Amino acid sequence: MRAISYMRYGGPDVLHVEEVPRPTAKEDEVLVRVKAVEATKGDCEMRSFSYAVKWFWLPLRIALGVRRPRRQILGMYFSGEIVSTGAAVTRFSPGDAVFGTAGFRMGAYAEYLAVPQRNTIITRPRNMEHADAAAVPLGGLNALHFMRRAAIRPGERVLINGAGGSIGLHALQIAKAMGADVTVVDHTIKEAALLRLGADRFIDYTRSDFAAEGQRYDVVFDMVPRSSYSDCIRILNPGGRYLCGNPRLSVMIRSLFTSWLTDKSASFAFATESMEELETLKQMIEDGEIRSIVDKIYPMDEAAAAHRRVETEQRLGAVVISIGD
Ligand SMILES: NC(=O)c1ccc[n+]([C@@H]2O[C@H](COP(=O)([O-])OP(=O)(O)OC[C@H]3O[C@@H](n4cnc5c(N)ncnc54)[C@H](OP(=O)(O)O)[C@@H]3O)[C@@H](O)[C@H]2O)c1
Repeated sequence: MRAISYMRYGGPDVLHVEEVPRPTAKEDEVLVRVKAVEATKGDCEMRSFSYAVKWFWLPLRIALGVRRPRRQILGMYFSGEIVSTGAAVTRFSPGDAVFGTAGFRMGAYAEYLAVPQRNTIITRPRNMEHADAAAVPLGGLNALHFMRRAAIRPGERVLINGAGGSIGLHALQIAKAMGADVTVVDHTIKEAALLRLGADRFIDYTRSDFAAEGQRYDVVFDMVPRSSYSDCIRILNPGGRYLCGNPRLSVMIRSLFTSWLTDKSASFAFATESMEELETLKQMIEDGEIRSIVDKIYPMDEAAAAHRRVETEQRLGAVVISIGD
């Protein structure tokens, strides 16, 4: 089968397409014919081994491979079709259209992927094609996790910093579905699309500082690694919640003190993934409450260009690699 692989850490050009043996499904696994996979910021970080949050470095290097990548085929979030199932598989049959996550074993940058049936994989929403479906799990699962954690009540004021990214675009739609009044912060070029998706107000981070506008919020959801922690806490109403998707060590420590010593709370988390959460997203998609925004679809041979777009260019939504012909 054809797969996009990389043998060493480096720039996008370390990615290349090669022939590798096709996996087979073990007893509790399904074999998926992958049709589309999201190229994520996380994939780029693993490929280049460069992380904005430095405390990640050592544990991740040990986990991913000290000298060279231990797993040479990236790709966590996919859409595809079940080709065959192991003897113990009860949840799926050949021919099922599915989407979900390959987990930290990755491997979805390839024509075939063997994954345990217990992974967060479910049947695809009936109103979505493969590219749109592949764009759901990363942004959707993370956003749903954080928006539920924020326990948003109808009418509350929510600010999403970095709302034009994979996670932010879903967070905006989920917060709106929860009845929030949502202010979004991102680059100029994303204003029209974010307002179309339901944002109540847009703040352009290239022109103004959201913390200097004198507004107060019940929830601040922060996806931007280097934003000011004090500013985010200062603009919260009493009882307000700050959620950080990409915490520095100092933010993790300060969060504990904010929650102990003030009437505000701050939390950071690495979102979990569950079948129930993906089913909730599927239902919201089928009910028309949320939709995917795909920036661009690349063929397998242009995986390096896909990574370049994720890393260096202003994009709106998910970059997807179409797998196969
Ligand atoms: N906690 C978790 O479980 C978890 C899981 C997955 C990912 N993450 C982390 O969460 C972060 C967001 O992920 P993502 O996939 O949504 O990333 P993404 O798609 O790159 O989105 C980031 C967004 O923030 C915007 N941005 C950049 N600088 C900004 C600034 N100063 N102010 C406001 N907006 C700004 C970007 O716009 P531009 O186009 O202008 O750059 C982009 O629209 C990443 O750093 C990722 O590593 C956390």
